[in-house]
Amino acid sequence: MDTKLTGSHASSNVTFYIGKIPIIGNAILAPMDGITDSPFRQLCKKMGSAASVSEFVNALNLINGHPHIEEQLPFSESERPFAYQIFDNNVSRIVDTAKYLMKYKPDFIDINMGCSNRSVANRGAGAGLMRDHKKVELLFKTITNTLTVPVTAKIRLGWDVNELNFLEIAHILEDNGCSCISLHARTRVQQYGGKADWDSIASLVDAVTIPVIGNGDIQHSNQITELISYTGCNAVMIGRAAIGNPWIFQKEKQEQISNQDRYLTMKDHLDLMVEYYEHRGIILFRKHLKKYLSIPDISKESIQKAFTFTNPDQLAQYLQGILHC
Ligand SMILES: Cc1cc2nc3c(=O)[nH]c(=O)nc-3n(C[C@H](O)[C@H](O)[C@H](O)COP(=O)(O)O)c2cc1C
Repeated sequence: MDTKLTGSHASSNVTFYIGKIPIIGNAILAPMDGITDSPFRQLCKKMGSAASVSEFVNALNLINGHPHIEEQLPFSESERPFAYQIFDNNVSRIVDTAKYLMKYKPDFIDINMGCSNRSVANRGAGAGLMRDHKKVELLFKTITNTLTVPVTAKIRLGWDVNELNFLEIAHILEDNGCSCISLHARTRVQQYGGKADWDSIASLVDAVTIPVIGNGDIQHSNQITELISYTGCNAVMIGRAAIGNPWIFQKEKQEQISNQDRYLTMKDHLDLMVEYYEHRGIILFRKHLKKYLSIPDISKESIQKAFTFTNPDQLAQYLQGILHC
């Protein structure tokens, strides 16, 4: 397998580089709007995720001063290497947003070219951006000449089976300064259904010289090396399978996690949520709770009861009780 790692660092523990930024490790938490906020990214990073990418930032919202947007921007030093991911259909707004975000000192910027949501893709942002080759060229030429940090892209295979243009887009990206491509190996029309096409990830690896991160359908930690060996990609991104299972980055199997470890990790996550969001932290933690507790021996009723707590200490005590630890 060629991991495109050459030179004096080849024997160090660096897995690959994004521009000049060393990435250590081969599995990265995929950005997920509404899920991968700073507390969850911090937790996954601690568990072994090799880098952190923000939930997508809507350039339009930032420029229009949407009231909640600034809240999602602060990140912790422990998340580094850290990227903000931006989406929009307008080149200058994306570039202006990236310039604005530089005040937080991210390590790199990622451009979302994969969001399949109708309201995003149908206005030519997210996966819709892949349909306009000239705009992609202008965007990457402009943004990479403007910023001093590397710029990466997260793409899909294309719009649908009749428009599989990921290789053409990849060449445009590479020719215009893009430092790394993450490929969610589905089309926009597939959204999150069907099977991710790992063969296409291998084709992308063969087609470009910049690093490639493969994404789609990793369910278990043993599939991390499986996808890397199958495709030759530099690393993988894990999305849905990390929700309620951050241990996937420790290469641990869910079923091997002891109740004690499960409790301590949930408590750690809850504490990070409360620290970041204060009183709203416990409410926002509920979106992770169900997944954490979806294990044998925990009844539906116990999960429902966990949703009723509004005091973090009482919730922690309750979790300790139902997990018998
Ligand atoms: C709830 C949810 C939100 C997502 N939000 C984003 C996002 O903000 N930016 C992005 O690039 N991808 C987003 N994605 C796509 C994931 O990053 C990933 O590409 C996709 O889930 C496939 O990986 P998986 O099979 O490991 O889940 C989202 C996916 C989900 C399920």
